[in-house]
Amino acid sequence: MLNLKNTKIVIDGQKQLSGRVRTAGAKNAALPELAAVVLTGGEFHFRDVPEVEDIKVMFHALENLGAEGEFRSNTVKIKIPTIKSPLVPREIVETSRASVLLLGPLVARNGYAKVSTPGGCAIGDRKINYHLEGLRRMGTDIIEEKEHIIAKASKPLRGIDYSFPAKTVTGTENLLMAAVLAEGTTVLRNCSLEPEVGDLIELLLAMGADIKGKNSETLVITGKSSLNGAAHQVIPDRIEMGTYVIAGCFAGNEILVENTVPEYVGCLLDILEKSGIQVNTAADTISVNCNGKVNPVDIETMPYPGYPTDLQAQLTTLLTQAEGVSHIKENIFNNRFQHTGELNKMGANIELNGDVSIIKGKTPLTGALIRATDLRASAALVLGGLIAKGTTVIENVFQLFRGYENMPQKLNSLGADIKVIEE
Ligand code: EPZ
Repeated sequence: MLNLKNTKIVIDGQKQLSGRVRTAGAKNAALPELAAVVLTGGEFHFRDVPEVEDIKVMFHALENLGAEGEFRSNTVKIKIPTIKSPLVPREIVETSRASVLLLGPLVARNGYAKVSTPGGCAIGDRKINYHLEGLRRMGTDIIEEKEHIIAKASKPLRGIDYSFPAKTVTGTENLLMAAVLAEGTTVLRNCSLEPEVGDLIELLLAMGADIKGKNSETLVITGKSSLNGAAHQVIPDRIEMGTYVIAGCFAGNEILVENTVPEYVGCLLDILEKSGIQVNTAADTISVNCNGKVNPVDIETMPYPGYPTDLQAQLTTLLTQAEGVSHIKENIFNNRFQHTGELNKMGANIELNGDVSIIKGKTPLTGALIRATDLRASAALVLGGLIAKGTTVIENVFQLFRGYENMPQKLNSLGADIKVIEE
């Protein structure tokens, strides 16, 4: 096992890529779905679970709580007959903030949860005030200490009618998981519409939950006294699929992305067509034809079904090759442009003006020593290394392995030349 903390990757650029690449299961669906295991002592069987660091951290968090199970070959078999320790320790929260998803289910099942406070996050503020406000309204005492958040509920949670002040994906998921065991009916309004929320609802329904309004902004949940285990196949990862579709857009590349759901990346495909790239979709495959000419585009990131913030960095790399000036407005997070400084080291010409990045193409990229700052930025830098002339070395590439399953191997199978080196 690599010591990922001291790992870098070395890319010899300008290879033409061709072939098929299969999208793995969605990290951001599997994370809440693993958290949902806490809601019952029943047995679960998950398929298409991506083998990425964030999932391994969540699996370890469940073991800490008392889970018995195994995670191998993209399959998780797991159950938590009893909650042995309602604590989610710092080393788990620090690596993956998604452990906040354990708060709702732990309080609902166990009446007590102690989760280390999530540390800072590279991409900006990651507040959880809406999560906590909803849980308080459901009857949870929340004590916010410096090191921990303690959540206590002396009796079953009660149903509420709560409207999220703003869209929050994990906030929707956390309160949904608390509501399925609450007494009475819960109405959650202004819910996130991301496909990963819908996939969590599919799992909860399979567990016996009573939820109405899937794929709508208003969810009506009638609480149950207990739920069962279930079998579930995780939906494909739309951010991974979008990343490989963008990789196919660089001149000469012919990549067929398999195990996709084109509608999950509908906004990206529309943008690519606006930039003059021909998009081809079949049942569960996506490919693009690009003759090398990319027109500049202006976009802004929005909650689903708008353009996803998680594909903002990757599109930036493509737009360095557009013939003209593009603008990207980042509306979701307040520090999600760190990849631009690293791309500029390679020869890109990107300026920042508040929450807008201004990408002046077309700029040939040259290999450089650069650093991955966050998960999706690391993917953008890999794309940069693929098209740059010469050798690119990306440090701190642990970030990539948090959310992309076997990316170096998948790209090398398409003809790239990427080496993973442990320092
Ligand atoms: C989820 O994060 C995803 N993570 C993120 O993917 C994704 O970027 C994000 O949704 C937006 O789509 C998982 O699903 C595990 P939010 P989440 O709550 O739920 C503010 C990746 O790369 N906010 O929708 O943490 C918040 O500060 C990751 O895979 C509050 O103010 O995002 C942010 O600015 C990165 N109060 C905005 O809302 C709250 O209580 C969106 O946050 C909650 C959120």
